[in-house]
Order: sequence, then C-alpha cells, then structure tokens
Amino acid sequence: MRWLYSSIILFAIAVFLSCDCDAANETTFVNTTKSKLKILGVFGHLGKSHFDVFKPLLEELARRGHELTVLSHFPRSENAKAKEPLPTYKDISLVDTELGVYVDIVDLHQIHHNIFSILRELYFLRFMADVACSTGLQNPAIKELLRSDEKFDVIITESFNTDCFLGFVHRFKAPYLGLSSSQIMPWINKDFGNEDNPSYIPSIFVGFTKPMDFPKRIWNRVTLSILKLAYDYWYRPRDQVFANEAFGPDLPELSEIARQSQALLVNTHSSLHGSKPQLPNVVEIGGLHIPSKINPLPSDIAKFLDSAHEGVLYFSLGSMIKSTTMPQEKLDAILTVLGSIPRKVIWKWESDELPRKLDNVMVKKWLPQFEVMNHPNVKCYLGHGGLLGLSESVYSGLPMVLVPMYGDQFHNAAAVKTRGSAEVLAFNNLNEESLRHALDEVFNNTRYRENAQKLSKAYRDRPATPLETAVWWTEYIARGNGSPFLRSEGADIPWYQRHLIDVALVLIIVSAALIYIIFRLIKLLLSLLRAVKGMLGAREKSKWKKID
Ligand SMILES: *[C@@H]1O[C@H](CO)[C@@H](O)[C@H](O)[C@H]1NC(C)=O
Repeated sequence: MRWLYSSIILFAIAVFLSCDCDAANETTFVNTTKSKLKILGVFGHLGKSHFDVFKPLLEELARRGHELTVLSHFPRSENAKAKEPLPTYKDISLVDTELGVYVDIVDLHQIHHNIFSILRELYFLRFMADVACSTGLQNPAIKELLRSDEKFDVIITESFNTDCFLGFVHRFKAPYLGLSSSQIMPWINKDFGNEDNPSYIPSIFVGFTKPMDFPKRIWNRVTLSILKLAYDYWYRPRDQVFANEAFGPDLPELSEIARQSQALLVNTHSSLHGSKPQLPNVVEIGGLHIPSKINPLPSDIAKFLDSAHEGVLYFSLGSMIKSTTMPQEKLDAILTVLGSIPRKVIWKWESDELPRKLDNVMVKKWLPQFEVMNHPNVKCYLGHGGLLGLSESVYSGLPMVLVPMYGDQFHNAAAVKTRGSAEVLAFNNLNEESLRHALDEVFNNTRYRENAQKLSKAYRDRPATPLETAVWWTEYIARGNGSPFLRSEGADIPWYQRHLIDVALVLIIVSAALIYIIFRLIKLLLSLLRAVKGMLGAREKSKWKKID
C-alpha cells in the first residue's frame, strides 16, 4: 500500500509543479510592446477601385492611433475629414490635375476578345505602370519625403503591376508588406515562392472554370509563363530605370527588394476563388472594402426599389468602364431585353437619359451599390466581374449575370460560375438572345439564388473580419515577426530544383540504366539457357545415333 501513497504524493507534486498557479507566468500570445507605429503607405496606381480596397485598412490603422503617411492619388476628401478627422493620417497627394484618376475611362468600343487578349492585357498593365512611375516618382512631394529624416516601422504598398515604388523600402530600411486588390499577380507568387501550379490553379487572365481539360491546361501553362517572362524581361528593367532616376543609382535590383516582402494580403477568399495551397504569410482578406453597415438609400431610389415586388435587376459596369460607350448594336440588344422583362431595372449609366425611354428602368450616374444590392427586392446583378462589385454581390447572396471585359474579370466571373451562382456571357457574344437566356435563367431558376446564399454564408464565416486580419498582420510585421520566420525556402531555389526536374532526370536515367542492365542480364541468361539446351540436345541426339 505504501507505494500507492508515495505515487499519489509524487503525482500531486508533479501536478503542482506543472500548474500555472502564478498569474504572472500566464502565457501571452499577443506581444504589444510598441503601441504607436509609424507607417508609410505607398500607392502609386491611379485606379480608384484599387485604393477603395486599401483605404479601410489605412483609416483603421489611423483610428487605432498609429501615425500614417500615405502617398496616393486619393487623399482624404474634405468631406471625409469633416466626418472623421483622423489627425494621425497624413496624405502626400500624387494627384496630377491634368491626368486625373482612372474613373470612367474604359471605352467599350476597344474591347475585342481573341487569342491575343493576353498580350493586350500585358500592354495595358505596363502602360498604367509607366504612367504611375513617371508621374508619381517625379512628384516634388516625394522628393521632399526622400530628403527628410523620417523613420518608419513598417511600409505597406500595393503589389500589382510595377516595382518602381519599392525604392522607398530601400530608402527607409523598414519591413514591408504588400496588398493585392485582386487575385495575386503571377510574378508575386514567384517572388514569394507561393504555389501556383497551372495543372489545377487557373491563372489570373484566362478565366477558366475548374476542372481544366487538357487544352486548357496547355493554355494555362503557356500564359502563366508568358506573364512571368514578360515581368522579368520587360516590366522589371523598365521599372529599374524609373526607380534609379528617383532613388539614385545605388538602388539595388528591384527584384531583390521585391523578394524582401514579408507578407501579402490578398483581396480574395477561397470560398469564392477556390482552395489552393497558400504560404502562411499570404493572407486572404477578401471583402476588406465591404462596409460594416448598410446605410439608408436616397429616398427616390428607396421608393423605386420598395415598390418593385416583381424583383429588380441591378446593372452596373463599375467605376472604370464608361457604360455610355457601349457599341450601338449591343446597346440596342440590352435596351430591348431590359425593356421587355417583367422586372424593374436600376442601372448605373453616366448620362441623364437613356437613348430610349423605358418605363421599368431607373438610371443614375452613381448608385450606392452595396445598399442597392442588399435591398430585398433586388434579385440579380448584371455586371462585368470587377472584384469589388462581385465580392459585394457574393457577400449579399445575390446571383449574377456577368460579362467580363478585361483584366481579372474573366477569372472572377469563372469563380462564381464554378460556385453555381452566376451565368457568364462573352462580350463578343452579347446579343438579345444570349442576354435574355441568361436573365431568364438567373431570375427564374431558384438554383442560382440558393447557391448564392450558400456562398454568401461561407464567404462571411471567418475567424476574424478581413479588416481585423489585415490590421493584425500589419502590426505583426511591424513588430519584426516576418522574415526570416515566414520566408519560404521554395522562393530562393532555382525553378528546376523547385519542380524537382534535376531529381526527376537523375531518377529517370538511373531507372533507365537499371532497366537496361536487367534487360541485358535476362538476354544473357536466355542465350546461356539456349546454349545449354543446345548442348544437351546435341548430346541426346548423339546418344540416339549411337543406339541407332
Ligand atoms: C421568367 O419567367 C416568366 C414567366 O414564366 C417570363 O415571363 C419571364 O420573361 C422570365 N424571365 C425573367 C427575366 O423574369
């Protein structure tokens, strides 16, 4: 019995020693030593929709008491400042009054889709990069900032179509993280060593639904390589010229600075764009721009929507496309179809009047999109697949008819189509028949609404809001927890090693050699056997001969 007592006592001692009885020893998982950070935001791109994604994060960081210096074409308006002053948010405006920003600039007459579209995308992206680099980096305010003795704890910048602004990282020697307002660009996956295997992950500009068949996989592979090569051999050298001019000739290779990026916050969510392997520092913050509350609608719109018990179609091609440039025959088809459906239509159209008056249609130059989408009578969104509108629609559980035009819109449209909550129309094939068919499907087949509701539920259900996640990651990187802890070794080995091509080659050669040796051995054995048999046979014969 004594051994039993002693083991109980020993056990009690062990429990006591292992217990966390002293409150001071409590484990803590959040290290908040530095509460006020100095943050530099660098956003040289002129697209408003991109900055719309970053703005909520920047403002929230200021709300939490961090000091922000934000370089962009979108300084806070007087109106916004009156509503919420945010004294620690300092703008350095890059606005060029002659140039303006990218709002209502895409002319639909220029949209034609064919096999060369990928080259047009590349050309367009590079054109926008040239504009951003040449106007942004020459801005006197930037020169002043570069001469100043400012210090920053962390730099946030857009990871998109150019590296020319990365000179700030070199100048201020602060850890930095990237924000992507769209799906990750292929070259950024490469810098991070993030998985983008084209055998099952559609690349951003192809717009393939999953799974991809053999020809699609070939095209996916080819375009992915074209994009990465174009970035390495066309974009980067040009960026380097712009950057050297602004940051001085001792600036390291931009590709080197790009590899120091410590995290990437991406405006997507796997419930929408599909599951794929992601490094721990590539973080989904899809829907970051979606407001946390639904504001009341202006009274005329509210009246129109409230009375529309037959259901409403919301039609908008986003902030960059000018709907009024719709080619005539397509516009005629749209007007005919929208005028004839037994529904109401609310349409973002940048002119006061439609070319033909339609009783069931209300047009407005600007619409509070999220509020309209959340009105219970709105039953379908007809759009272009831009990620912001599309994410809001996904969030609201609204089924869609999408006509992708350029950029990542094909990819986004394909993603919702894969989830069964959208019909996708090719712009080349946009006519009365195809549009009527798509609208009939989405309005009259409850399947789309059911799928949209399920997707909405999955899209919203997360461990933390996208805004909280983005704030946390910014602070985490500022606290010095990024590299080397999060850097993937995969990013720093040559491509043939990453794809195990060297290993595969050796294994193939060794197995081929082994097979060859075995084959020769068998052949040798067989010929030996045959020789032995022949000898035996000869002996037998001679035996018989003797008997004869
Ligand atoms: C839906 O169904 C009704 C009746 O079957 C039809 O008249 C209408 O045109 C269909 N399409 C839309 C978009 O409502």
